[in-house]
Amino acid sequence: MRETEVTVTFQPSGRTVHVLRGTRLLEAAAGAQIVLDQPCGGAGTCGKCRLVVASGASKPTEAEIDRLTAEELDAGVRLACRATVDGPITVDVPPDSLLASHHKILVGGSPLSPTSIDPTVRKQYVELRPPDRDDAADDLTRLQRAIGPFRIGLELLREMPARLRAANFRGTAVLVDSVLNDRESTGAELIDFEPENTESQIYAVAIDIGTTTLAGVLIDLNHRANTERAKTECGKLQPDRLQLDEGNQLAVASRLNPQTRFGDDVLSRILHAQQGPQGISDLQEAIIEGIDGMIGELAAAAGIRVEQVYEVTFSGNTTMQQLLCGIDPSALGGVPFVPAVGRGLLLPATELGLHVHPRASACLLPVIGGFVGGDTVSGILATGLAVNGGPTLLIDIGTNGEIVLFADGKLTAASTAAGPAFEGARILHGMRGTRGAIEKVVVIEGQLHANVIGDVRPTGLCGSALIDVAAELLRHGLLTPEGRLCHTDRLPDGTLPDLARRIVSHEGHPAFVLASESESGTGGAVLLTQRDLRELQLATGAIRAGIAILLRRAGVDPAYLKAVLLAGGFGNFIRRSNAQRIGLIPPEVPHPQIRYQGNTSLAGARMIAVSRQARLAAEELAHRTEHLDLSRDVEFQTAFGEAMIFPDGNEHG
Ligand code: FES
Repeated sequence: MRETEVTVTFQPSGRTVHVLRGTRLLEAAAGAQIVLDQPCGGAGTCGKCRLVVASGASKPTEAEIDRLTAEELDAGVRLACRATVDGPITVDVPPDSLLASHHKILVGGSPLSPTSIDPTVRKQYVELRPPDRDDAADDLTRLQRAIGPFRIGLELLREMPARLRAANFRGTAVLVDSVLNDRESTGAELIDFEPENTESQIYAVAIDIGTTTLAGVLIDLNHRANTERAKTECGKLQPDRLQLDEGNQLAVASRLNPQTRFGDDVLSRILHAQQGPQGISDLQEAIIEGIDGMIGELAAAAGIRVEQVYEVTFSGNTTMQQLLCGIDPSALGGVPFVPAVGRGLLLPATELGLHVHPRASACLLPVIGGFVGGDTVSGILATGLAVNGGPTLLIDIGTNGEIVLFADGKLTAASTAAGPAFEGARILHGMRGTRGAIEKVVVIEGQLHANVIGDVRPTGLCGSALIDVAAELLRHGLLTPEGRLCHTDRLPDGTLPDLARRIVSHEGHPAFVLASESESGTGGAVLLTQRDLRELQLATGAIRAGIAILLRRAGVDPAYLKAVLLAGGFGNFIRRSNAQRIGLIPPEVPHPQIRYQGNTSLAGARMIAVSRQARLAAEELAHRTEHLDLSRDVEFQTAFGEAMIFPDGNEHG
């Protein structure tokens, strides 16, 4: 500890850090590896990053006085993103303030498009004739005769004479074809020569780098085993056109993205990176630490060594992919939001700092634009969007809503800033889909029923419930299409008594009670306020306007959409009828045509790990997808204004 530093101890973990006076508690917590929930990205507006400090913190700021009650302030409750360290302190971290490990993480996906299983990594067992007087060819020529031409790095070349002789010229060559796109194939490279026959042990890891969560799978690349299995199971399938199934998936893992300790959203990560080289390396080290940990977990679960992982493939939004590589994302933080690189990348995994096979490669999906990244390319690839028979929409709902339309053979992608309402931010009692969150609301036989994650008393509501409540309020005439909640004294005739009693006045405006003081887990009522509904209108309106513009430009009537595909974590937890009732999904589309697709970002990463065709296809899809910049679109503001009005009550089934 330097002289000017003071000690901060976090309880109940007991972790200690030494920081300078004036450091925000949020940063001190990050230093102690404590990841706090920060839905507003540390702006002091969501009030979710609460900690309890007995003494030693600075005076409460205006934001804290605004967001916390006098009793809370008296009890030492502080906002970690506002309060700073003034002296040695002990801080209590309430479980609800943690970006908890029980956060819902979507790992699975729906069945994928047929994929040729043809990985770029392969193994070949050889038994070479040892050199003698009749055949004094050099070692590499001897090997090339058996496996064909290859390149070799100096490091391995130095080791080859000894390795060949130690193995009595018998062993397994590990080869990688550096396929990235049509123009950049550099042929096979020998990356290892292993003693004995190890042909059956060949693995890759595919990773979805989400802003909040990481998800990964360990894949068995043993082509021969996969071929035999598919032949046995599927009978007629041709070995070169196999269905990518769960069978080659040996283990699955997920965890929070450790970068969340530097901020919840993409923008706060970019701001941290803008602090300079240290900021970028903080973020890069954090993501590598998370991925390395996950690869270790996957390998342990499958009983293999991390050195047997010969390739790692990645899919994420543009900022996440750049940060993985330690590339400054500053240009993504302002107009015109330019990525450092659009095409896919193939890099030595060790250069990224990953602990896998020492000559393994890391393959990153290509991106379409600053806010339409590799995860969207994965979505297009994994859902087979571009081979659909009719106009189809792919929607990934999050803080940014990414929308891709396939119509008349053309792919057009757009990104809309939906804001963090669906993540629970800027919603009075909003929270992420974690323990204690009301995640589902439904009115049955005149009574409102709420599902709470973890089967505990509710402490707030998450995005899916926000949509549910708004849809129910619209259905029961308690919410106008303009988004106004009825006043207690102006309820429509015949309002259900259970709903009527839930309309109350909050700060001079009507609000809806989801759980009363006695029902909630906080001692205070869980409310949905007029302001919350406004936030929902803004979030929904942005995505709806983006969809409207894409459809209008392509001349596609929403009623003629062949399918609407919902991707990503949030999309898979919303109810179709309610999303349609509030206009988030075009109401004209029949329910069976709205399909959940699971984690398509991970599915895309899996596909490029097992198939060189998928890798080429990803590059081609990214290249041919037109990026529509809605921020510069003259129609957007008008469409946004229109989309703020909730649709009429005609519901389609
Ligand atoms: S108020 Fe601190 S993160 Fe939102």
